[in-house]
Amino acid sequence: MTLRFLTAGESHGERLTVILDGVPAGLTLREEDLVTDLRRRQGGHGRGGRMAIEHDVAHIVAGVRGGLTLGSPITLEIANRDWENWRQVMAVDAAEVKRKPITRVRPGHADLAGMLKYGADDARDVLERASARETAARVAAGGVAKLLLGQFGSTVRSYTRSIGAIEARVPASIDWEAVESSPVRSPDPKSGVAMVAAIDAAREHGDTLGGIFTVIAEGVPPGLGSYRQWDTRLDGLLAQAIVSIPACKAVAIGDGENAARQPGSQVHDVPVYDDGRLGHETNRAGGLTGGVTNGEPVVVHGFMKPISTLLKPLATIDLKTKQPARAHYERSDICVVPAAGVVGEAMVALVLAGALLEKFGGDSMSELRTNVGAYLQTVRR
Ligand SMILES: Cc1cc2nc3c(=O)[nH]c(=O)nc-3n(C[C@H](O)[C@H](O)[C@H](O)COP(=O)(O)O)c2cc1C
Repeated sequence: MTLRFLTAGESHGERLTVILDGVPAGLTLREEDLVTDLRRRQGGHGRGGRMAIEHDVAHIVAGVRGGLTLGSPITLEIANRDWENWRQVMAVDAAEVKRKPITRVRPGHADLAGMLKYGADDARDVLERASARETAARVAAGGVAKLLLGQFGSTVRSYTRSIGAIEARVPASIDWEAVESSPVRSPDPKSGVAMVAAIDAAREHGDTLGGIFTVIAEGVPPGLGSYRQWDTRLDGLLAQAIVSIPACKAVAIGDGENAARQPGSQVHDVPVYDDGRLGHETNRAGGLTGGVTNGEPVVVHGFMKPISTLLKPLATIDLKTKQPARAHYERSDICVVPAAGVVGEAMVALVLAGALLEKFGGDSMSELRTNVGAYLQTVRR
């Protein structure tokens, strides 16, 4: 893999760390470039109290000199401000740690499976890493991938397609500023109001909601990914990246779900020359055929289940007493679809940037620019 990343850090630990390896030398990278997406991930109507405590900033600790990447691994750190309140619970030192085991496992969360897997008797040891706090590190890494793609005119954006039963009426041309000013990142203000009301109602009932987000990458060069092998198909790589987002349970590429119900005549995109430029009449395939980008926008939808920590806890078992119980509750989000869209952007950007580097190589940005430019000139002919 040309571009890869690893994250570390517990939800209430001291900090999150991400190492991003494979970024060419010569990309302009400043801490402020990563701030907006981190803030966007923290937002959205339906987030819990934790996000009021955190003000995520990715501190660059390696891989950059004088504002330019060096080609060496980039290390970013995001402090957990809440750690101050959890120092004893999360203490590294055995003499300092305060344990109050959580044994009333939450249905739908990683508690039970993680305890069985790691032989833990305290769900705290599981949930701290299973928590989606980790996605802040992914968004920081994704911010670097977006900067790289941006050098070639590619953008990666997202909107909320649905929350619970409320579906947005997605306009043909999306007003991205309106999406960003909507409290639920809806592309349609009317549905946005209904989505906010649905989240408020869920909160009132002690319940939670899921929904669907859509990520659109525009200006992506054709020819990224390959049908050479199962694990080189870009649609497969994008699907894995999206479903790896906690609570994301399904993915669709382009009209994927709908295509399964339609005849071929209603699904396939007809290639056309428009003013001498090669394109397609429609983009139902979501920019990918044969696991290869075809020059159309890449469109990926992520389907989120409702959050599994409920204010009105679900029935469960207490692993200590082996008796029926009510699930553990700790401060939690009600709905995270708007934030998950931002995480989806990061994951899509990382996959696309990886595919770009795989096709065009380049240890430096200038080499990469030359290679991309030469290829685009050839395909445009
Ligand atoms: C941005 C984001 C925030 C989340 N916040 C919470 C939360 O506050 N409470 C919770 O129970 N789950 C939350 N989740 C989902 C859990 O992390 C997820 O359900 C859990 O790790 C189990 O994994 P699974 O649902 O993929 O099986 C969040 C997910 C995302 C993407």
